[in-house]
Amino acid sequence: MTTEITSRVAGSRRHNARTSESPRTDAWNHTDILDLDDFTREEIDTVLELADRMREILDRRIARVPALRGFTVVNLFYEPSTRTRASFELAGKVLGADVLSLSASTSSVQKGESLIDTVRTMRAMRADAIVIRHAMAGAPYLAAKHTDASIINAGDGAHAHPTQALLDLYTMRRHVGELAGKRVVMVGDIAHSRVARSDLWGLAAVGAEVVVCGPPTLLPRGLRAGDRPAHAESALPPVTIETDADRAIAGADVVMALRLQSERQEGGLLPSLHEYAQHYQVTAERLARAQPNHLLMHPGPKNEGIEISGAVAKGSHSIIEEQVTNGVAVRMALLYLLSGGKELPGEAAPAREEARR
Ligand code: NCD
Repeated sequence: MTTEITSRVAGSRRHNARTSESPRTDAWNHTDILDLDDFTREEIDTVLELADRMREILDRRIARVPALRGFTVVNLFYEPSTRTRASFELAGKVLGADVLSLSASTSSVQKGESLIDTVRTMRAMRADAIVIRHAMAGAPYLAAKHTDASIINAGDGAHAHPTQALLDLYTMRRHVGELAGKRVVMVGDIAHSRVARSDLWGLAAVGAEVVVCGPPTLLPRGLRAGDRPAHAESALPPVTIETDADRAIAGADVVMALRLQSERQEGGLLPSLHEYAQHYQVTAERLARAQPNHLLMHPGPKNEGIEISGAVAKGSHSIIEEQVTNGVAVRMALLYLLSGGKELPGEAAPAREEARR
């Protein structure tokens, strides 16, 4: 296995040395991944290019390389998760890292331990990267201030979900190529969606034309450039706001349906689910207005029959399952970059001395 990888990669190095096929990890400048608002276009490109390499590894019959041997990843999830948590676990394991998953319901968090204490405890056990999902916006930022382990935000309240945004960009780019000028329409509960917020930063960085669509009660204030105070810390990139789903979807290259985040709603935001579905469900009829070769996405978990119809979710334009696969590849790329990896995976172990141990 190792020999096969070494010769494969050595071969590609011989032929492709310093070509566009070499991942450009020099454009990477992060020790934590908290949101995409501080990612440059070059950094996004670095992640997406490396994700391509990782996707190749993931698709091998035996998907294992030793690039992260000796690197420890801890998943610290204070909110439910299926795909994000499993995705980080698999990403670490494919690269040979040690991965540990803790859920708040079975850890000392139940005994009142603070986030900071838990993070410091994990670091004391030599965790190199700690992946945090938390209901409070800002929790991963707080953790990052109290540890020198790398913190990855796997979703904080309604604020940010940067790894989901990167996998969304990667998936779009695989199909669409250059995203500049492409019409990307997000439909649903924008106000409570951390996915939408991080997607907006990423899509703005790559120059896509973004439309957000939902009932007025589910659209965040301050999205239009003129609406927001200058220098507001929570400012989002300007986008087109649309409350009519048919108009929003017209001409779309990509349509992304978003779940109603009922756990974050205070109630009273929607007259009824039935009415919501009638006006905002992504259906075949609505998608008929999009570009003929449009893509349909959803970060999951989806509620078929509410924000998306079952037929289109499983239809030929849907790349929802591919988003899940790509999520593993993108998280492999991110863990690799955080580990200080400079060589192609499998070529040589990243220099541990440079990692923050
Ligand atoms: C999203 C999340 O948790 O923010 N899911 C995910 O990570 N794939 C979206 C959601 O919960 O609706």
